[in-house]
Amino acid sequence: MSPKFKNPRAKHNFQGRTCSITGVGSYMPAIILTNADLEKMVDTSDEWITTRTGIKQRRLAAADEFTSDMAAKAAGQAMKRAGVTPDQIDLIIVATITPDMPFPNTASLVQRKIGAKRAAAFDVEAACSGFIYALEIGQQFIMSRTYDTVLVIGAEKLSSITDWQDRNTCVLFGDGAGAAILQNRPQSHGLLTAVMGADGDKADLLFMPGGGSRCPATVDSVNGRQHYLRMEGKETFKNAVQAMYSAAQEALRRCELDITKINCVIPHQANRRIIDAVGERLGARPEQLFVNLDKYGNTSAASVAIALDEAVSSGKIQRGDLILMMVFGAGLTWGAAVIEW
Ligand code: ACO
Repeated sequence: MSPKFKNPRAKHNFQGRTCSITGVGSYMPAIILTNADLEKMVDTSDEWITTRTGIKQRRLAAADEFTSDMAAKAAGQAMKRAGVTPDQIDLIIVATITPDMPFPNTASLVQRKIGAKRAAAFDVEAACSGFIYALEIGQQFIMSRTYDTVLVIGAEKLSSITDWQDRNTCVLFGDGAGAAILQNRPQSHGLLTAVMGADGDKADLLFMPGGGSRCPATVDSVNGRQHYLRMEGKETFKNAVQAMYSAAQEALRRCELDITKINCVIPHQANRRIIDAVGERLGARPEQLFVNLDKYGNTSAASVAIALDEAVSSGKIQRGDLILMMVFGAGLTWGAAVIEW
């Protein structure tokens, strides 16, 4: 019987080794901010937000709840489901644009919180694309036999860099975390391929001017609202559709798969209209697409990690299913991955 897909990594002679996701988890903070709440904060309406984005509400972390707290909770759930103890973890990678602090990295803070004393720890910054970037990096360590157990997390407290006076952006974002344990699981294919891309020429479409070496915090930078994210919505939208579509096509091509063979498509949850446009171009049926942005808005690097966990927990993904994930974010950056569950 011919195989149902091609594993592009097989040519590297991995002698049966795979990089599989053996457990997923997520954590959503308790505070709910609805579109009706936003109507009281800026000149907007539930009708505008719903029709332009598909978002109905988003979660906000408490004032004393940080990215590392949410990341550690999501990680704890993923570890439990994978049957992994803290001392087994070799490496922690946290994808985020909202670290607790510029340094130390958030992964080290997570290491302390979960007690993974043996683990190396670093962060990846690729904005909304961060989780796919982190998966691909983690995968390299598993397949090269450098490490056996890698914890990959996407976590964001975007509410800390959202300008709550800017209606163009504040309606879009939310907080949360998702996590995955990567391990070799014999007799499965796991992560079949991951595509990563970037276009630094478009860095000005979506950025936060303040807080780095270019614009350190000063009274003027704070008064000038430089420590909040800024976005050219329309241009970002167009680029998002094109980049996610192309990345997904490339990932499918490498696996010699067409979209009809995919059981679950998990796109970055930024805007319902972006998801529908990419889905349509790919020829995906609406029931193939997993969407939860109505509840959480855009949680950047956490977005597809949370969605993956919810798709698995709800039974939408079963063992052996093929999953296509695609992401897009500031940088510009983008990515896609095909996984046999
Ligand atoms: N409520 C009411 N009106 C609004 C709001 C709001 N919240 N926000 C903008 N408007 C107004 C605008 O001022 C504009 O008014 P005008 O015509 O009088 O100037 C009008 O609505 C239309 O604005 P547009 O920007 O043209 O609206 P658009 O249809 O493009 O939707 C949106 C805006 C939702 C931001 C969309 O462009 C989008 O989703 N872009 C992509 C965002 C994204 O995917 N980001 C991903 C990466 S995020 C990361 O990496 C962290």
